[in-house]
Amino acid sequence: MNAPVRKAVLPVAGLGTRFLPATKAMAKEMLPIVDKPLIQYAIEEARAAGIEDFVLVTGRGKTIMEDHFDHAVELEQVLEARGKTRELDIVQDAMVPPGHLAYARQQNPLGLGHAIWCARQVVAGEPFAVLLPDDLVKAEPGCLAQMIEAYNDVGGNIVAVEDVPRDQTNKYGILDVEHDDGRLARAKGLVEKPDPADAPSTLSIIGRYILQPEVFEYLDKHEKGAGGEIQLTDAMAKTLGTVPFHGLRFKGRRFDCGSKAGFIEANVAFALERPDLADGLRETLKTYL
Ligand code: G1P
Repeated sequence: MNAPVRKAVLPVAGLGTRFLPATKAMAKEMLPIVDKPLIQYAIEEARAAGIEDFVLVTGRGKTIMEDHFDHAVELEQVLEARGKTRELDIVQDAMVPPGHLAYARQQNPLGLGHAIWCARQVVAGEPFAVLLPDDLVKAEPGCLAQMIEAYNDVGGNIVAVEDVPRDQTNKYGILDVEHDDGRLARAKGLVEKPDPADAPSTLSIIGRYILQPEVFEYLDKHEKGAGGEIQLTDAMAKTLGTVPFHGLRFKGRRFDCGSKAGFIEANVAFALERPDLADGLRETLKTYL
């Protein structure tokens, strides 16, 4: 029986320079897809997968997220007084039960591996999930729920993967595959952002992980990898041989909301599934094409 995954770490300290000026005074994780911020999609996906406890690894200028997941007393009073129960539900649905959301500060931007390491005290030796809110996955059941299901079978470390065009391997962590049944790919190696010519495959990690706490033994060493950063991929690679490692080809569609094109595409895709928006938007879009 694999130890249950009850905790999730969400690194949210990045500066979001690709979305300036929108992110000059606002956290990029608060950018909305239709009307909900990216960070809330990630929390909801994790809660739907059974995650109970959350750690947001934050940095300067990110306290807006603490407010987002808390009561907005004045707003709630006004909505209540005006009888706006639907809006009140929307505001209150964003909340995480008291005591289940913690914040760890990443004091220096030393890489994704370092961000995860900053959450080690709260993870406290348990298996845990990592969600990168920039990667938005539209799936039913959610991507992390699919991964938990696979984890209950194979245990160990699991990442969500998808094939990318070979000329894009230098944007991702890439698996060196040992065995592949079309759904689960067992890895014998991992490389962070390899040049297309050197990539062992085109199977790339997207921002969903289930990790065993052994990864902290290597993150503790603060070794720098690709781009001079402390890489999560490198620490995971060091656990190969002691912890099983699988990539899950999840069912669903992933949007890279860290890029402008992916962000806009996600807005269109999510809006086209909204009954209040779909018909009008479809007609409007035709006029542009
Ligand atoms: C990070 C990881 C990379 C992974 C990617 C998924 O890279 O280091 O292994 O493939 O997220 O989005 P980043 O996008 O932060 O450069």
